[in-house]
Amino acid sequence: MIPHSRPWLDASDHEAIALALSEDAIAQGARVRAFETEVARYVGVSDGVAVASGTAALLMALSALEIGSGDEVILPTYVCEAVLDAVLTCGATPVLADVGPTWGLTVESVSERVSSRTAAILVVHPFGIAMDTRSFAPFGVPIIEDACQAFGARREGDIAGTTGTIGVFSFHATKCLTTGEGGMAVSRDPDLLDRMRRLREGHSSIRGKRIAAPLSDLQAALGLSQLERYPAFLARRRELADRYFQELADLPVRLPETVREHSMFFRFPLAVSENVDALIREFQGHGVHVRRGVDALLHHKLGLSGVDFPQAERLYETTLSIPLYPALSDDEQRSVVKACRAVWRAS
Ligand SMILES: Cc1ncc(COP(=O)(O)O)c(C=O)c1O
Repeated sequence: MIPHSRPWLDASDHEAIALALSEDAIAQGARVRAFETEVARYVGVSDGVAVASGTAALLMALSALEIGSGDEVILPTYVCEAVLDAVLTCGATPVLADVGPTWGLTVESVSERVSSRTAAILVVHPFGIAMDTRSFAPFGVPIIEDACQAFGARREGDIAGTTGTIGVFSFHATKCLTTGEGGMAVSRDPDLLDRMRRLREGHSSIRGKRIAAPLSDLQAALGLSQLERYPAFLARRRELADRYFQELADLPVRLPETVREHSMFFRFPLAVSENVDALIREFQGHGVHVRRGVDALLHHKLGLSGVDFPQAERLYETTLSIPLYPALSDDEQRSVVKACRAVWRAS
């Protein structure tokens, strides 16, 4: 079975971890600090604060902005549950917004939800697509960019996670760059960086919060090693995406052409007209694991009607994600293409 995602680990990653182990560098230490500095340098901001997951990084960002009970946070309904969890954990009220045709928040959807209690907008860069973060600045509230799926994505010179107030990355095993489990919040604001560091170290608690979720040097060793090869990761994703655009062009599906320029292709989402569950089963028969774009919509989790989220409902029923990751071999991609052609009965 060709998995839907897989990390790209090589001998240099093994050596980096072995070296950290041989130096007894197993808890949070100098390698974590170096990883923060290198990630910040890579995306072009002042600094970062590493933690154990993207979810913890989101919670740390919300807490550093002193967001809690009585505050509202706007976020898209078309995103994984971890984002909702972070908002609920900090005590704020999640205000869900519909998304546009390219899976992300739109200025229009946010305008319908913004209020005097809005304390932040959580702009998610979905599937590796860099959103136009600057378009949300006129709302005049802090913007947390969730770039957990979009490390290194660019849009007109802006790198995802660097134009809002705080940017957040995940380094989970399934993500673009991995430390196994892991996450980081980055910013250009020294005060916010200081607050986040204090929250992580337990030196201060803001509104009763303390983020006791450190990354270890063992994990950071892997992150640093992956980061050195990251340009090759991005180039490989682009190569695989280009091949899908070419090889699937004649199939009765819509390819993600509209986001081609702004995506680093964390995912390759197809717009399909058949039942997605049936397609998933059919692909399984061809030895390929494909998935929905998201497992569930957040408004369903909160028991809200779909009437206010028509675009998300439509995307949930029509988006299918096929395997695309640097560790996917050319042979495996050929098998995915063959499976697509068999499923859509193309010669
Ligand atoms: C958009 C988005 N935000 C946040 C997260 C949470 O990251 P983590 O799994 O590292 O906690 C994920 C992970 O699936 C994600 O896709």
